[in-house]
Amino acid sequence: MSERVALVTGGIGELGRSICERLTRQGCRVAALDIALTTNGDDGRSWQARLARDGLDILLIAADVTDFGSCTQAVAHTESRLGPVDILVNCAGITRDASLRKLDKNEWDAVLSTNLDSVFNVTKHVIDGMTQRGFGRIVNISSLNGVKGQFGQTNYSAAKAGMHGFTMALAREVARKGVTVNTVSPGYMNTKMVGAVPREILERIVEEIPMGRLGETREIAALVGFLCSDDAAFITGANYSINGGHHMH
Ligand code: CAA
Repeated sequence: MSERVALVTGGIGELGRSICERLTRQGCRVAALDIALTTNGDDGRSWQARLARDGLDILLIAADVTDFGSCTQAVAHTESRLGPVDILVNCAGITRDASLRKLDKNEWDAVLSTNLDSVFNVTKHVIDGMTQRGFGRIVNISSLNGVKGQFGQTNYSAAKAGMHGFTMALAREVARKGVTVNTVSPGYMNTKMVGAVPREILERIVEEIPMGRLGETREIAALVGFLCSDDAAFITGANYSINGGHHMH
């Protein structure tokens, strides 16, 4: 792949890091955008330094994807340092699990704004450049639970399903301009987010997975890397499940 510029939101989370590393190894110049960098950037900087020792450069951008103005600045900063954004991976996401009768308004709002509003807030700043240059790759990281629904996740399942609605609509708008828009829906992964599910519940969930194990973030990153490549030019509006057979449709 040529030296494309990629922006990954949630870029210093576990999945975000794997995606950044994958895209960097594919020859992209990568910016990792993350709100965690606004408070304590040490962890992100040590990861960045570790990759630099392997000859892989990542630009760290501190920004809040729930804030449109913060995204304006983040994209401008990325473009001034690396050049126009060719690839956007919307990976920022959080959970606030509770059944609807216990879920409060703040938990609803936090998940909808971080997981869904964010997709508008960032994509809006890169889409015109992509269509004008005749090349773009947008990958929205959704979830198995946006496809099948999950007890305790009305907020998360709604936001993740909404991401794929956005994918399909935008894919149609930009299909003739060399820009593809796709969704990747991971199942339960070996991450801290999934590790926060109570142990007995998680054990039952893993029993439902035909492969009998959690996924690894590098397995998701490999698919994202392909969808971001020049070779994936004819794939758009698709939603890829990657869940060890947990939900087949
Ligand atoms: N299906 C059906 N009924 C269930 C249930 C389920 N999965 N889980 C609990 N219940 C029932 C209980 O048996 C109980 O019934 P009774 O009232 O008759 O006794 C009732 O529902 C309990 O309801 P509560 O609202 O009190 O539930 P809780 O507070 O005990 O637990 C929860 C709610 C915290 C959401 C818990 O169910 C949970 O953690 N579930 C897992 C959520 C999950 O999978 N999150 C994924 C996070 S990772 C991620 O999201 C990444 C990704 O993309 C995959």
